[in-house]
Amino acid sequence: MALALARRAARVENLKSEIAALNYADFGNKITFEIGCGKGHYLSAYGAAHKGELCVGIDLISSRIRDGMRKNEKLGNANVHFLKAYSSEFLDAMPADLKFQKIFIFFPDPWPKKRHHKHRLIQPEFLAEIKKYCAPGAEMFFRTDHGEYFEWAREIFASSDWQFSEIDRLEFEEVSQFQRLLPNFQTLRAVLKA
Ligand SMILES: C[S@@+](CC[C@H](N)C(=O)[O-])C[C@H]1O[C@@H](n2cnc3c(N)ncnc32)[C@H](O)[C@@H]1O
Repeated sequence: MALALARRAARVENLKSEIAALNYADFGNKITFEIGCGKGHYLSAYGAAHKGELCVGIDLISSRIRDGMRKNEKLGNANVHFLKAYSSEFLDAMPADLKFQKIFIFFPDPWPKKRHHKHRLIQPEFLAEIKKYCAPGAEMFFRTDHGEYFEWAREIFASSDWQFSEIDRLEFEEVSQFQRLLPNFQTLRAVLKA
C-alpha cells in the first residue's frame, strides 16, 4: 500500500513537471482537455483547426499516447500535447493558475455490468471534483454509443453544477477510433453553472 502511494505521488510529481513545460501562460492559462484520448484522432485534428488553444489529451495506455504524438508531428501541431496519465492523477497535478476551458470525453469505457458501474468515469464525485479545475463557463462534451451509460450520465449531470443539453453535432467533428467502430452514439454538452 505504501509503495503504491509512493508510486502515485511520483507520477503526480512527474505530471506537474510535464504540465509546467506546456507554457500555458501563452494560451491565457486555459486548456482544452480530452480524457481518454485514445490514439489522438479527435484532439490532433481539433488542435490543428484551433491553433490558439492549448490542447492536452491524456490516456492510460502508452502506445495510444505515442500514436497521438505521431499524428501531432505529421500535422505540425505545436499547441497539442498527449500525456500518459490517469484522470485523477492529472487533476492532482494541476497548478492553481491553470484551468480547463473545454473538456472532451468520447466513448469512455462503459463498464456495462452493474457491479462495475463504480468504474465509470462519469460519477457525481467526478463532476464535483473537476469543476474545481475549470474556468467560469467551462464546457464539457460527452459522447457514447452505450444507451444505458448515456442515461446514467444524464441523471448525474441533472443533479450537478453542470447545465446540460443533448446535441446532435459538435461544433468541430472528427471521427475518433471508437466512433469509426461505433457509428450510433449520443452526445451531451454541459456548461458549468455560474
Ligand atoms: C473506449 S476508449 C475511447 C478512445 C477515444 N476517446 C476514441 O473515441 O477513440 C477509452 C480510452 O479511455 C482511456 N481511459 C479510461 N479511463 C481513463 C482515465 N481514468 N484516465 C485517462 N484515460 C482513461 C482508456 O485507456 C482508453 O484508451
